[in-house]
Amino acid sequence: MVGNEPARRIRFNAFAINGVGHQIPGLWRHPQDRSRDYTSLKHWTELAVLLEDAFFDGIFLADALGPYDVYGGNADAALRAAAKIPMNDPLPLVGAMAGVTEHLGFGITASTAAEHPYTFARRMSTLDHLTHGRVGWNVVTGYLKSAAENMGESDQLSHDERYDRADEYMEVLYKLWEGSWEDDAVALDTEHDTFADPAKVHPINHHGRYFTVPGIHLSEPSPQRTPVIYQAGASPRGIAFAADHAEAVFVAAPTLPQVARQVALVREGLEARGRGGAAARIYALVTIVVDESDDLAQAKYRDVFSYASETGNLVLNSGWSGIDLSKENLDAPLDPVKTDAIQTTVSSLSGAQHGPQRWSVRDSARLNATGGPVLVGSGETVADALEAIMDQTGVDGFNVAYALNPGSWEDIASYLIPVLQARGSYPTRAEPGTLRHRMFGSGDHLPSSHPGATHRR
Ligand SMILES: Cc1cc2nc3c(=O)[nH]c(=O)nc-3n(C[C@H](O)[C@H](O)[C@H](O)COP(=O)(O)O)c2cc1C
Repeated sequence: MVGNEPARRIRFNAFAINGVGHQIPGLWRHPQDRSRDYTSLKHWTELAVLLEDAFFDGIFLADALGPYDVYGGNADAALRAAAKIPMNDPLPLVGAMAGVTEHLGFGITASTAAEHPYTFARRMSTLDHLTHGRVGWNVVTGYLKSAAENMGESDQLSHDERYDRADEYMEVLYKLWEGSWEDDAVALDTEHDTFADPAKVHPINHHGRYFTVPGIHLSEPSPQRTPVIYQAGASPRGIAFAADHAEAVFVAAPTLPQVARQVALVREGLEARGRGGAAARIYALVTIVVDESDDLAQAKYRDVFSYASETGNLVLNSGWSGIDLSKENLDAPLDPVKTDAIQTTVSSLSGAQHGPQRWSVRDSARLNATGGPVLVGSGETVADALEAIMDQTGVDGFNVAYALNPGSWEDIASYLIPVLQARGSYPTRAEPGTLRHRMFGSGDHLPSSHPGATHRR
């Protein structure tokens, strides 16, 4: 439907993690949950086929590089609740899932604090080749002190400096992906013993504040060159970073006015950069519990969420906010504080975002853990709710977290997608092409208005 889109087009990403517990710790204990199978390749290849057949834009794989050890000052509670630990590397899953699909996109989270941009550039080019241009990268800057410490640092950089460093990281990558190899550098000239023409492969000569990369990119140009750039910054500095780089933005907030505000800020930022407000697709985080009827869905919701772990939620919120919530009065709102972790979580927990309605830490933690609304009902009810969210917030689609893995996505395929298709707001057949082309309908490469394009020759 790209290029000939209906008035309302709903886009879905599936939000997953290479581990047992994701947004809602505790649900792994439900008898129908299969998260525990995350170490099996079959678990992932079957999920990829399910999502491709349901015409999802992609699967988005979260990641973090340290244990959530803020709560109680150690990782004990995180380990008990499987709150983002164990957590395996998302990258190797992509090759396997790409092998059994043709269209599904892959949004991979990788932190700019984790790896030097030179080696990271090659990893992403490799995956973009192997997937025929279906790779996106969720750029994160890290927020866990534990991750920095385990990589030999005494602490992480301050919140805003992490974004400054990430800006330079992006510059190095654009130079490697967009500028190093010319389009016709691969000559395949058997007669003159020339695979690639050295005159058309350029050293990037990058000497910056954080990185020095003098040489050429190791990979020949991949279908998209730069993978589709995803981002989820929510602070003023994070939104500025998104406005500079992002082509897909994830927003997560417990109330719709907050989502709408974030969407407006991102679109304003894009406009201010001259990219146009629609230069990024914006996906809101939702959890969907859907069944044949409203009553069945409500019963399922009560059953599944009875397994949620309150301590697990507090562990995640402590990690995101940088505040040890084991020391707080859970029945009162938190006093506003400044930390170096995720600022939006801090203001959410402190009730600063909820206006006159000051939620207790317990309530905020519960709402934050789902990361957005939980929509419960029949296909018709949920479709109405999704349309209402789009109307009220201006998002392009949804980043769909699971309650049961993969049951939540199976239910969406069975009960919701046929309703959306009947309403004409969802594809009924596969859309070919690279991830970028499927998302925007205007080719495989970064548009000329994107700052990365300035590094092209
Ligand atoms: C839907 C969503 C998914 C996210 N996934 C990750 C992730 O997998 N890894 C990570 O380090 N940060 C992740 N984040 C955190 C963001 O990268 C970012 O730190 C956060 O949104 C706060 O932005 P700020 O740092 O500008 O305050 C995610 C955020 C959202 C909204």
